[in-house]
Amino acid sequence: LMITIAVLLAAYLLGSVSGSLLLGRLRGIDIRQHGSGNAGGTNALRTLGWRFALAVVSIDIGKGALAVWLALWLAPAWAYTAAALAVAGHVWPLWHGFRGGKGAATAVGALLVLWPQAVLPLLVVWLLVLVLSGYVGLATVLAALALPVWVWWQRAGVAPQLFALWLAVFLTFTHRSNLSRLRRGCESRFERARLLHR
Ligand code: G3P
Repeated sequence: LMITIAVLLAAYLLGSVSGSLLLGRLRGIDIRQHGSGNAGGTNALRTLGWRFALAVVSIDIGKGALAVWLALWLAPAWAYTAAALAVAGHVWPLWHGFRGGKGAATAVGALLVLWPQAVLPLLVVWLLVLVLSGYVGLATVLAALALPVWVWWQRAGVAPQLFALWLAVFLTFTHRSNLSRLRRGCESRFERARLLHR
């Protein structure tokens, strides 16, 4: 029991290590005061460039993977719970006043360890929406919603289905500001990603 509690706590604390806030702090910048205000890879790209964004996304994917890997090693029955806690840690980080990002990269890291086959179809959906619309937030929400459909189609067990459903609902919730900006027509767009509009 002690090991399980330690693993779950570690998952949340690892999730709390925010790539953009940590690296931003080293450069004297709080990314939450720039661009969309989100502490994540997309806003890192928007406000500080691709090198910074790449480092941010590597940290955020890495910590999600590490949290799940740790759980699979020490308390395998709790791997999905650890994944959820790492994502929640990214969104409500202990180290950064509970104001973090939206959890997409952390979820990808967790999925890469839990279920690597799911990542490629999600990436295809994400890229397709991004290239067609230029909206990263929309691409992320639609990829997240595709996950439970894919999991159901693969006839996976109850745990992955519950996790996929939870993740789809949770990521839609964390992207609510993007969805409301889309509705109002003021979501920021990556024009360079819209390949069909050149
Ligand atoms: O996961 C975050 C991304 O999908 C949207 O980020 O900065 O456009 O709100 P942002």
